[in-house]
Amino acid sequence: MSAAAALDGDVVTVELADGTRAALHVLALRDGCPCSECRHSVSGQRLFESSRVLPAAAATAAYVSDAGSLELDWSDGHRSSFPAAWVRGEAAAASRGRRAARGLQLWSAELGGAPPEHRWPDVAEDGPARRDWLRDVATLGFAVLHGIPQEPGFVERVTGLFGAVRETNYGRVFDVAVSVGATNLADTALPLSPHTDNPYREPTPTVQLLHCLTSDVEGGHTVLVDGFAAAERLRLEAPSLLATLAREPIRFAYRDESAELEADVPVVSLDALGDVVALHLNNRSKGVPHGDPARVGSWYEAYFALVALVESPELQVVFRLEPGDLIVFDNLRILHGRTGFAGGGTRRLQGCYADRDGLLSTLAVLEREAA
Ligand code: OGA
Ligand code: ZN
Ligand code: ZN
Repeated sequence: MSAAAALDGDVVTVELADGTRAALHVLALRDGCPCSECRHSVSGQRLFESSRVLPAAAATAAYVSDAGSLELDWSDGHRSSFPAAWVRGEAAAASRGRRAARGLQLWSAELGGAPPEHRWPDVAEDGPARRDWLRDVATLGFAVLHGIPQEPGFVERVTGLFGAVRETNYGRVFDVAVSVGATNLADTALPLSPHTDNPYREPTPTVQLLHCLTSDVEGGHTVLVDGFAAAERLRLEAPSLLATLAREPIRFAYRDESAELEADVPVVSLDALGDVVALHLNNRSKGVPHGDPARVGSWYEAYFALVALVESPELQVVFRLEPGDLIVFDNLRILHGRTGFAGGGTRRLQGCYADRDGLLSTLAVLEREAA
């Protein structure tokens, strides 16, 4: 196939030798010029002010070079050269309506047969094992680490492998253990239905770690659900119910002696293209919907449908966190809960919050180094 480009008014159409076709606006092309006059050589950041340069830009010619790059000539003598890979990326983004998203792999109960598991001594090293561990968190939304020293505070050290601790009113590190006079149901032996933590914080922490220090009770199993998979099922079964959950903000609140937190956020957050990007689901801290009673009724119908999916064994992965185990999970995607526990023993977890952007950045750097 022969490569060609044509300029027609404000639009450049290009066809590459591999058959990739794209229609590109000249303003986006001038804005995206990668040349060394337009971009800082070290950071790649733009050196000119788009709003000043673009209105005066006029393309005079477009063609494909022998090397396969898209070339643009501008009336002021400027020249732009776009590698074929860049053109392919723009063509793919245009056909999907967006750039390639990170590769999420939605899952259901079958994942319980082969959950993502890794070992502490391996991931402690700054190499392929750490990369594989973080990739599981990025794609599946969680991973289990075994062999963590049963030392209080160690969860903070694990967080340091990929990012910074997000301190909250519960401290840098928080304890989950039965305590008399608990201000949070988490600190009783009661079951906790699958939930996301801290929906009453804005922004909500995006990553959570839980490290099991002691567990010699009966029960206390960990339950994980891929909230994005549950939301996609709801979209298939009853799209209007998903839309209802995405439309109605709900007030989540938490208060104790030193905190008074509240946030208004929908149970399901969709991005501008309608993709599910976050869940805020927490029966303990959820307020009640208000306003038009008909809308309130519809909201409950939608909420029950989502909760039914979340509670269905078909979507749940259930396992026991044993002493020395630690889970890292995406707190806006993965719902976590636990079964109740009993017996004379002790169960003590320590947790920590962190940020997904830091985790993904660490992963991307490790992947870049491997490439
Ligand atoms: C929590 C929580 C899980 C557990 O404290 O919010 O979800 O296994 N705990 O106790
Ligand atoms: Zn340039
Ligand atoms: Zn929790």
